[in-house]
Amino acid sequence: MCGIVGYTGPAKAAPILLEGLAKLEYRGYDSAGLAVRDGDAPVQIVKSKGRLRALAEKTDEGRALAGNVGIGHTRWATHGEPSERNAHPHVSGAPEDHDRSADPSDVVGVHNGIIENYAELKEKLRKNGYSFYSETDTEVAIKLVEYYYKKYGIGPIDALAKTMVRVRGSYALAVMFRDYPGEIYVARKDSPMIIGVTEGESFIASDVPAILNRTRSVYYIDNLEMACVRPGSVAFYNLDGEQVEKQLTTITWDAEAAEKGGFEHFMMKEIHEQPKAVRDTLHSVLRETETGKEIDLSSVGLSEEEIRRVSQLHIVACGSAWHVGVAAQYIFEDLAAIPVRVELASEFRYRRLLLDKDALVVIVSQSGETADSLAALREAKRLGIKTLGIVNTVGSSIAREADSVFYTVAGPEIAVATTKAYSAQLMAMYLLAVQFARVREEIDAQAYADYLTELETIPDKIARLLEDKDRLQWFAAKFSNAHDAFFIGRGIDYAISLEGSLKMKEISYLHSEAYAAGELKHGTISLIEEGTLVIGVLTQSALYEKTVSNMVECKARGAYLMGLTGYGNYSVEDAADFTVYVPKTDPHFMASLAVVPLQLLGYYLSVSRGLDVDKPRNLAKSVTVE
Ligand code: AGP
Repeated sequence: MCGIVGYTGPAKAAPILLEGLAKLEYRGYDSAGLAVRDGDAPVQIVKSKGRLRALAEKTDEGRALAGNVGIGHTRWATHGEPSERNAHPHVSGAPEDHDRSADPSDVVGVHNGIIENYAELKEKLRKNGYSFYSETDTEVAIKLVEYYYKKYGIGPIDALAKTMVRVRGSYALAVMFRDYPGEIYVARKDSPMIIGVTEGESFIASDVPAILNRTRSVYYIDNLEMACVRPGSVAFYNLDGEQVEKQLTTITWDAEAAEKGGFEHFMMKEIHEQPKAVRDTLHSVLRETETGKEIDLSSVGLSEEEIRRVSQLHIVACGSAWHVGVAAQYIFEDLAAIPVRVELASEFRYRRLLLDKDALVVIVSQSGETADSLAALREAKRLGIKTLGIVNTVGSSIAREADSVFYTVAGPEIAVATTKAYSAQLMAMYLLAVQFARVREEIDAQAYADYLTELETIPDKIARLLEDKDRLQWFAAKFSNAHDAFFIGRGIDYAISLEGSLKMKEISYLHSEAYAAGELKHGTISLIEEGTLVIGVLTQSALYEKTVSNMVECKARGAYLMGLTGYGNYSVEDAADFTVYVPKTDPHFMASLAVVPLQLLGYYLSVSRGLDVDKPRNLAKSVTVE
């Protein structure tokens, strides 16, 4: 998620923009830039790759840029590598210098979000004489605004309205027009944006922390609305260009709470960002065609010919990413009839690899910098095996070195315990498995369409789960003094158990193990005693009865049973002491729903123990050493 800041008023704009961007650094970014206007002079644009410090030094802490209106941006790359050329702000013209320029363009702007149909819009603009200097979807959006602004000779609000009607995706745009000095225009759909005011000054920001020390009086711009921001005043418009009235509200959060969007921890904020992360990842490769929806992997770099030729998949990762691989094994084998081996990267990299020449090694990594996973990738490449990365961080080592890359679109993940990135990785795997199945003719067109339709319901089903957290909070408090917990399941339920167990261990320090339910009786069941918590994951109806039997075996030895299953499977209450229900979906996709209560359980256990949820002891967000 990118950071946006804007200012218009009597003061020098650049220092205020840098101050606001610095308050958004916690969100993660890979480049930054400013656009500042001094009266009617051409806009001054300065960008830098890497840390905000570089931008501050280039502009002498902002003092080198004259002008009292401007916009600033920190970029978390989604389209195009981290670079000065791709950094925002972007212009409607064709600048030569991407580091520092005085640009005569009619329109300059910054963006937070994803323009899903940017490729087709880029083509349309090219046909109308536009050329492009960056790989970003944002440049396309800014040029589209100018296209309408010039083609129809209309004002900024009408040009933005036409752009909003044409664009598919999520965006918060902040735009300055050469003909309207002193003003900033905002357009919003799905991505956050607030507008703050004080006497004679106005501020815009993608997140509250950026302007909290300047003003607590803010307007919240709603979806498909626009605003004209002038010094100390704001006018709001709907998509029809009609002015709408807005209530001024006062922010009561302190700065720390504001960074977490009002949640107590980043982890809970990111658990709630899962519907959007999953939806954005799905839509990043889903296309509308005359014959219906299709998965388009052209941006991934995996052709249908290559998909047909794959003889075996090796899914290689660490931690939660490895748990995604364990779930994916069942899904790929079931849907695409392709043999899959899932391996821990730390094992894969050292064993004697006997890989088929047409194998595909899939490296799953949120950070794209995990040392073992990167080493595994390099080992596969050394052996001449094709590699695919499933990565959340654009421009990371694994993303750059893999032959092809499927970017999850979860945005920066701050909490050490992964949640939204894990869920986005699951979605990426579903899409690959369904596409492999279709291309290899293991499923027909109707099944393909049905799977895609079901995948589109997943984000809302996750959101529904997040509306009812109280029971889990109560249950976590009940077990906050427990010493052991066992998660058991079969098939995909075993993969879900692995992730649930890790969430519990890594943030609440409560020892737990995940076991294939059928394996428990081969030794570990000796650990079950009076009051031991056993969580049975029961989302796979074909294996339901067998796992319930394993749960009953544990109950006979004194265990306290929690059941986790789909709505309607009430018979589980005959065995379980406490049951959590999740919405139903295709069995192959149930991990996306069943994992949410287990994330919350780990979270509430950690909170009940007074632990540092976001930064658990001994752990790093990215394990870049062996
Ligand atoms: C999961 O909550 C942990 N943060 C950890 O297991 C993590 O999944 C693992 O270190 C892999 O990280 P990566 O996805 O960045 O490669």
